[in-house]
Amino acid sequence: MTKKLFIKTYGCQMNVYDSARMADVLAPLGYVASDTPDDADLVILNTCHIREKASEKVFSELGRLRPLKAARPGFMIAVAGCTAQAEGEEIVRRMPHVDVVVGPQAYHRLPELVARASRAAGAALDTDFPVDSKFDHLPAANAAGGAPAAFLTIQEGCDKFCTFCVVPYTRGAEYSRPVADIEAEARRLVEGGVRELTLLGQNVNAFHGRDEAGREIGLGALVRRLARIEGLARLRYTTSHPRDVDDELVAAHGDEPKLMPYLHLPVQSGSDRILDAMNRGHTAAQFRRIVERLRAARPDLALSSDFIVGFPGETEAEFAATLDLVREIGFATAFSFKYSARPGTPAALMDRQVPEPVKDERLQRLQALLRAQTDAFNAACLGRTVPVLFERPGRHPGQLVGRSPWLQPVHVGGGGEVGEIRPVRLTRLATNSIAGDVVDEMPAGAAA
Ligand code: SAH
Ligand code: SF4
Ligand code: F3S
Repeated sequence: MTKKLFIKTYGCQMNVYDSARMADVLAPLGYVASDTPDDADLVILNTCHIREKASEKVFSELGRLRPLKAARPGFMIAVAGCTAQAEGEEIVRRMPHVDVVVGPQAYHRLPELVARASRAAGAALDTDFPVDSKFDHLPAANAAGGAPAAFLTIQEGCDKFCTFCVVPYTRGAEYSRPVADIEAEARRLVEGGVRELTLLGQNVNAFHGRDEAGREIGLGALVRRLARIEGLARLRYTTSHPRDVDDELVAAHGDEPKLMPYLHLPVQSGSDRILDAMNRGHTAAQFRRIVERLRAARPDLALSSDFIVGFPGETEAEFAATLDLVREIGFATAFSFKYSARPGTPAALMDRQVPEPVKDERLQRLQALLRAQTDAFNAACLGRTVPVLFERPGRHPGQLVGRSPWLQPVHVGGGGEVGEIRPVRLTRLATNSIAGDVVDEMPAGAAA
């Protein structure tokens, strides 16, 4: 009997990947995807706990689902993801209409949990960190609906314990998947039409998976191995930590043409005292040096980063050091957040929490600077011809939407097909993308 499954995904790309795996593991039970909760038999909320606002969303969404549950016998609600891991007991207590609570390392047990919850009243809860890896039990990713760009999780968890962050508690210890498994999954995706793979991990460049000979290899070596897959045109990876950028990875940026010239490398702050209080394990100068090495290897590398403003004790001068770092390095894109105190993390207990209006004001100043840098980066690309991978049709007939090597969204009026990489001359900045025209060939000597 077919049943309908609706998954709502919050948070990072790892949750996007996990949502697809959850759908795969439930398919043998007869669940097919639905794009609305209204006719679903099972709704899964795949949650994020990174900031207070993110985790609050779960409780309001559960409130909205309550009438559906009351109206339809057999309708089930599951809460997965990082908030499930951190607040499983609380969810069960406050939201008695929830049937299943499952943490990020226990998704392979979903069929059993769903079955258990449908037999008995009360919620089935599994927030263990099992010794067996979920990857050994979950079906590997298949090309979903012919999308030419796909995610592939190669590493999970975090041992870094930045003082502001919940991830080490919600995702558990660092774990790297075996190289052969990753390669097999990558090959299957490429056979299904994938041209671009983004390798995922909370600390993706801490990857140290074992190869067939039992040797541990790092991300640089893994990138080189995957780059040999015929038909795969582009590789990216995210999110990396400055501490784990090694020579091999820098070298791969220099000489592996399939590795795209774009890197998301969170720095959080430009102040050494704040970086130390955050337990980031590097100084601002060391970050600058890493960027120099990367740019020496790949001069057209575009950088992206994450920033936190208003970390406990952050002074105006320390915030100004972040602005200085941003001005000096220049980012193509960036994400910036107000510090959010998370229960159970050391920074939540630190003295001198920064008042909300001060955080607001700092965030505005930082975002204005970052926005200007993004605009300048995009404007500098106008008039250039760049290879674009078309990922999906646009809103208008014939229109195609894709990405440049620097992850910029690009749209064209026509002249290609989804899954193709074509040279596009960039002509105009639009609201959320760059407009361009497909041309016959790349100019001689063009990068990427
Ligand atoms: N593993 C990555 C980051 C994962 S979380 C890294 O080490 O860089 C994504 C981003 O959310 C972080 O880079 C940080 O900027 C932000 N973030 C994490 N915890 C936060 C908190 N408590 N308050 C505000 N922003 C936070
Ligand atoms: Fe969180 Fe730090 Fe780990 Fe990133 S490195 S996931 S910010 S603890
Ligand atoms: Fe959020 Fe968990 Fe990702 S807290 S950012 S969903 S690892």
